[in-house]
Amino acid sequence: MKAHHTLMNRRGFLGATAAALALGSLPFAARGASAPVGKTRIGIIGSGRVGGTLGRIWANAGHSVMFSSLDLEHDKKLAAEVGGKASAGTPREAAAYGDVLLIAVPYHALPSVGKDLGPLLKGKVVIDTCNPIPERDGEIVKWAEEKGAGLASAELLPGARIVRGFNAVGYTQLPNAAKRKPRFGMPIAGDDPEAIAIVSALIRDVGYEPVLIGPLAMGRHLVPRQPLAGERLPDEIRKIAATLK
Ligand SMILES: NC(=O)c1ccc[n+]([C@@H]2O[C@H](COP(=O)([O-])OP(=O)(O)OC[C@H]3O[C@@H](n4cnc5c(N)ncnc54)[C@H](OP(=O)(O)O)[C@@H]3O)[C@@H](O)[C@H]2O)c1
Repeated sequence: MKAHHTLMNRRGFLGATAAALALGSLPFAARGASAPVGKTRIGIIGSGRVGGTLGRIWANAGHSVMFSSLDLEHDKKLAAEVGGKASAGTPREAAAYGDVLLIAVPYHALPSVGKDLGPLLKGKVVIDTCNPIPERDGEIVKWAEEKGAGLASAELLPGARIVRGFNAVGYTQLPNAAKRKPRFGMPIAGDDPEAIAIVSALIRDVGYEPVLIGPLAMGRHLVPRQPLAGERLPDEIRKIAATLK
């Protein structure tokens, strides 16, 4: 009964979100943003392996990207190398700049990112790539796993419209995604239909087909070493997701 109930909830949720996903094909500017038609201003918080790679891909696709980390010199060099509309700033500058923020830091850094960015996060669409990894992140992992990675991130980043995505695909795979035919799916989880639509468009620009597996609470399944980790076709993702609670 519980499983049935959960499934119905997920179906209801997915149905309600389908219309909003269609919105993803609308130019962002048509919804009142200040970027040129179809292009998004993206603030990268954590310009390491994942943030650096995705920022480069989006900049190459014509989006405006600001890289940030704890090392501004690194970000200036990265922005110069990427070229186009890439720039560098502090995490606070990147958070103020982006209509969409990609947060790609070790999970143990998320509490300080949340405190540092504070009110700048309010209402921002945030892509949360961050995973609690025991060997790396220490104490916070137990709490994050008990709460589930999606809801834990939401607590640490109050006011953000979070979509989990890019959590369990190695960063070296990301530049190859657009060359694949048929495209692999990218499982995502989130509660905010418009945020999901905006993030879905950016995921398509990287070369994956977004597959919404459910609300942000389902983001607990979007971590390495779990059934949805790795790359697979959209239908396979849907089949696996249907078995998860
Ligand atoms: N590597 C992968 O293939 C992969 C795949 C999917 C998801 N993930 C997850 O995505 C997240 C990022 O992984 P990664 O491999 O890209 O890590 P990474 O290469 O170590 O990069 C982390 C970035 O976060 C920055 N950072 C650390 N603390 C910060 C803070 N307080 N404020 C702002 N920036 C801060 C670092 O800046 P400094 O260099 O200046 O310290 C660095 O730019 C992790 O949670 C990871 O589990 C990783």
